[in-house]
Amino acid sequence: MNRLAPSLLSADFSKLEEQVALIERAGAQVIHVDVMDGHFVPNISFGAAVMKSLLGKTKLPFDVHLMIENPDQYLEDFATENTEYITVHAEACTHLHRTVQHIKSLGIKAGVSLNPATPVSVLEAIFEELDLVLVMSVNPGFGGQSFIPSALDKIKALHELKAQRNPNLVIEVDGGITLENIKSVTEAGVELVVAGSTVFCAPNIETRVKEMLELIK
Ligand code: DX5
Ligand code: ZN
Repeated sequence: MNRLAPSLLSADFSKLEEQVALIERAGAQVIHVDVMDGHFVPNISFGAAVMKSLLGKTKLPFDVHLMIENPDQYLEDFATENTEYITVHAEACTHLHRTVQHIKSLGIKAGVSLNPATPVSVLEAIFEELDLVLVMSVNPGFGGQSFIPSALDKIKALHELKAQRNPNLVIEVDGGITLENIKSVTEAGVELVVAGSTVFCAPNIETRVKEMLELIK
């Protein structure tokens, strides 16, 4: 089943609990948590404390997207009872295999994200180890950017590799997802779709979530 993961980055932080309740009520299945450190990406978002403030307020699983240097140092902080995935960037990890094992040792599913300029081939040696691959369809750092079309080829290549080598792998896409392009990514093989501004900047957040879910079911 395809799932929608609204990204908190575009939510109104002054009423986070309320906004999470809206997306949950509308049927979104996952909460995407964008963590930015101002080093790996040119922006700072929020850390584990903000994510943890939602514990007990939502049943939705957290999909943690770490856009930070030295992610190993912070993995424990993000491993909560709601955390389903922790995803690190291949470009930020010198010892990617070790980092993936570290995430799994916390009882959390491990994801690796690829920037638009990073080829799928960097995952060649650890493909079977991965629970999730996150294809960035914008350069990470900001919400509201435009979808980079070459992400579709990357998704298709991953979908083929998945069939051959890791049938349980989940392919996720993040960045510039709109009502116009959401169907094209699920048709290419994505099962977990992130959307920030398209959800939280909509005139009616609940209606928007339902529209998006309808398009990917
Ligand atoms: C970008 C973040 C995204 C962002 C997506 O660096 O990783 O998750 O919130 O926002 P939109 O959907 O607005 O492109
Ligand atoms: Zn993200």
